[in-house]
Amino acid sequence: MPRPRDNQPHLPEPNRPEPRARRVTERLTVEHDVVVLKFGSSILAHEGTIADAVHEVYREVRSGRRVVVVCSAMGNTTDDLAKRAGEITDKPHPAAYAALLAVGESHSAAQVALAIDAAGMPAILLDPAQIDLRTHGDPVNAEPVSMDASPIKREIEAGNVVVLPGFAGRDERGFTTLLGRGGSDLTALFVAHHCGATRCRLVKDVDGWYDADPKSAGARKYAHLSYADAIASPAQIVQSKCVEYACKHAMVIEVGALGSVAPSVVGEGESTLVAPHATPRPVRVAMLGLGTVGGGVMRHMLSAPDRYDIRRVLVRDPSKYADKLEDASILCQDADAVFADDPELVVELIGGTSLAGDLLERALDRGCSVVTANKALMARDGVRLRALADTRGAKLLDSAAVGGSVPMLEAVRRLAAHREIVSLAGVLNGTTNFILDQMARDSRYDEALAEAQRLGFAEADPTADVGGFDAAQKLCLLCRVAWDPALPEDSVEVTGIESLAQNAPDVDRGHVRRLVARASRNGDGAVLARVALEPVPEGSELARAHDEQNVLIVQLGDGRREVVKGRGAGRWPTAEAVFADTEQVVRALQPRLAPAQ
Ligand code: NDP
Ligand code: HSE
Repeated sequence: MPRPRDNQPHLPEPNRPEPRARRVTERLTVEHDVVVLKFGSSILAHEGTIADAVHEVYREVRSGRRVVVVCSAMGNTTDDLAKRAGEITDKPHPAAYAALLAVGESHSAAQVALAIDAAGMPAILLDPAQIDLRTHGDPVNAEPVSMDASPIKREIEAGNVVVLPGFAGRDERGFTTLLGRGGSDLTALFVAHHCGATRCRLVKDVDGWYDADPKSAGARKYAHLSYADAIASPAQIVQSKCVEYACKHAMVIEVGALGSVAPSVVGEGESTLVAPHATPRPVRVAMLGLGTVGGGVMRHMLSAPDRYDIRRVLVRDPSKYADKLEDASILCQDADAVFADDPELVVELIGGTSLAGDLLERALDRGCSVVTANKALMARDGVRLRALADTRGAKLLDSAAVGGSVPMLEAVRRLAAHREIVSLAGVLNGTTNFILDQMARDSRYDEALAEAQRLGFAEADPTADVGGFDAAQKLCLLCRVAWDPALPEDSVEVTGIESLAQNAPDVDRGHVRRLVARASRNGDGAVLARVALEPVPEGSELARAHDEQNVLIVQLGDGRREVVKGRGAGRWPTAEAVFADTEQVVRALQPRLAPAQ
């Protein structure tokens, strides 16, 4: 336990009014849990590390939280820009100097927003002017005093991830100002406070706040750190002004690394330490398939060699992939070779039901965890495979089987745990939605289908896509989670979009075509499910799922609705969901933290 210090730092009294605030800033109540994630320059070290930040955002999104991301500048950008200013003049004008340095955060935030969108999550980039973040005092070490949180609230309620550059604000006259050292951390806390966020996590390159250099022998991590100890700590992982701000507003600050399940928490109460824990070890992995999705997942895994030891990759034709891997010897054609190195995790991305089903069963039977995106297999055999996994103590995760990176299964599971679900309605197939939107823009059916195949949205054999069966399989998986009883695929009434290849009659004015999957329960509790082409009003949630986007509307018994949306097909959105599942397995296989003695 840390000893009480003689020179206790001065702590602000909680909940005093904002100093020098020129206008009242309304705190907003939002419907959902909001988390603010702040990525520092050590996390956004260079463009290659942005994907890691995106995975962290997705981890929160799939837990049902609404996310606001605050970005620092990438790597050494701030220092480089300051040096550049110094090369131009030794007496820089503060506003111009601040504007130049703020470019670093604007640049990184824009890149992060683009990457979040590419991974399938709807993302909106806002800038400090749009949230009217006002500051007072020294233009390069200013204090934030007010902001308008309503644009953020609007976007998060609409289901968008909000991305903001940290560090910068505007003074009374509208000039750019900087929040000084630790400025992006302060932006994150300030925004979290004004958005009513339940959590504010400062994501660092260390997995928490330590009592000594984390690399030194015997350094111990704080589970909890009092405001006073945080301010007095020589480590200064978070600047004192930020801790003081948190203390004043009775906020907790989480300090942790990417993927951390046990960040240090700065807040009220006594400080406590945890014993050092074992370094994570890489998990032995066998990959089945290296195509559209497998290729994306492989890229993510290769960038995390501390967690993934990829032993085997099963494909039909290794020669197609030899130049895509540094070590082509891991490619194999023989299904038995998959188990040669005793994998702890099998990632199934070959599709189909016969070989995939056989290999998954063998893996689970050995107690090996499985991650799959195979809705055809899970709709047919999911109940049996899950029972086998439970018996053998293995994990079987299939998030990507429905909705690409739209966390539909997670949302329905979460809602079903506490509320009555009355009905489900959604656009669940990216290929058909893409074709319908392309046809509305005057493409021919066959051209649009070929383009969907080229973009990697369609199944290897697109019959299930255009016939509505892919959407029906996904609907079965959602119904199972919503209402428990297994819904056989053939109990779904299905019509596809193939008829449009011959004849695409005009759709009523003010409407667009969507292939809609619907399910509800009748008075006896029986599930009624169907997939059909429908005209839906322009501007409706179903119509606003464009191209390969998917959307699910969950109608609840209390009259409320929950809507989840994003990209439902394609390499990166699907790989994001698969990788989130593999990360969950890897975390489950790591040793747990032990409390300090
Ligand atoms: P691809 O056709 O792009 O890739 C399939 C991969 O599996 C290829 O590497 C292929 O190797 C290998 N493979 C296929 N059959 C065999 C076999 N019998 N033996 C050995 N290797 C085999 O498919 P996707 O990546 O698009 O899809 C994979 C899975 O993900 C499917 O279950 C699909 O439904 C699901 N999914 C796909 C989404 C998408 O947007 N594409 C979205 C959500 C889920 P080779 O090239 O040598 O034949
Ligand atoms: N072929 C599927 C689709 C892939 O187009 O939606 C995503 O599951």
